[in-house]
Amino acid sequence: MRGSLLVDNIGELVTNDGRAGDPLGVRRDAAVLVEDGEVAWVGPARYAPAADRRIDAGGAAVLPGFVDSHAHLVFAGDRAAEFAARMAGEPYTGGGIRTTVGATRAASDDDLRATVGRLRAEMLRQGTTTVEIKSGYGLNVADEARSLRIAAEFTADTTFLGAHVVPAEYADRPDDYVGLVCGPMLAAAAPYARWIDVFCERGAFDADHARAILACGQAAGLGVRLHANQLGPGPGVRLGVELGAASVDHCTHLSDADVDALAGSETVATLLPGAEFSTRSPYPDARRLLDAGVTVALATDCNPGSSYTSSMPFCVALAVREMRMTPAEAVWAATAGGAAALRRTDVGRLTPGSRADLVVLDAPTHLHLAYRPGVPLIRQVLHNGVPR
Ligand code: NIG
Ligand code: FE
Repeated sequence: MRGSLLVDNIGELVTNDGRAGDPLGVRRDAAVLVEDGEVAWVGPARYAPAADRRIDAGGAAVLPGFVDSHAHLVFAGDRAAEFAARMAGEPYTGGGIRTTVGATRAASDDDLRATVGRLRAEMLRQGTTTVEIKSGYGLNVADEARSLRIAAEFTADTTFLGAHVVPAEYADRPDDYVGLVCGPMLAAAAPYARWIDVFCERGAFDADHARAILACGQAAGLGVRLHANQLGPGPGVRLGVELGAASVDHCTHLSDADVDALAGSETVATLLPGAEFSTRSPYPDARRLLDAGVTVALATDCNPGSSYTSSMPFCVALAVREMRMTPAEAVWAATAGGAAALRRTDVGRLTPGSRADLVVLDAPTHLHLAYRPGVPLIRQVLHNGVPR
């Protein structure tokens, strides 16, 4: 949208400007000037420049749009019955992934596109302005490539997850499947992908297979991220740090050595409390990571199996209630933390030059995101400076 836009009468503005002692960079009685889809100016409302249009925040809180750095949106079908069985006591093993692979392979491009579009719209309504989208329910050359082609219609942060699990047809030949992923599948997927990811877990891919696949992805120019230490302790987190991963995701079962490795690295620990909620598992200990100096992000993990939520506010509330994060830490992790996990500096903050992605809450402060769980508190969203 052309012309300038002033958002003013902001009671609490979260800038994430990195100011020492106040990571949220909160400003009171502030205004934000938007031009050409970017933040052009931030300052006290009384000094606000004139603009073509105005949004009156009515004394409410304004935050950067949420950055959901981990989502699996390209799939067909759902697994509601599997969820019901879990709530009746069945454990989560990841075995249901193959069910979704079958449904996804059978779906048309338009069906997959419609599902991604529906979930992306759902996210936007809940304040998410940046989302990463993974493949991982195709698990053959054609279906992984088309999953990423469709994902790329919705985001620049696309992730090749051909190594989600070994598909049934390769069950007794996992080495051959790793060869397929590193060879023709990567070649077909790479033009649409920014990242490569592996589910490094007992029952999925071990450290040797994960290292081989991630190295091939790096050689093809993709950045590294991992599903690590979700269902039990394992080598995933340390492998991610060793390879310079932007993020290791889940981090539910960590040893002291895992925490130390993360603390001495640039790798973000992305926590996905929707997965623990939906699999009825113990939550990761965010406090331990934060106290060790690790950068923590929060994301939804939106997928039909382990975490079918698209709501970052829900994840913020869970992180505060169940993972010993303060509301400020959780809001930072859901915005600036997500941006760090995607190695992006243009989103997750509201400072001059950043993308004009912001949410106006129906609440006076960010605290209400945890204090009023389940309440639709997103009054208005601006994405690239455009009201949605
Ligand atoms: O991040 N852990 C592996 N992958 C997904 C779950 C996928 C599924 O169950 O369909 C996750 O939780
Ligand atoms: Fe995931």
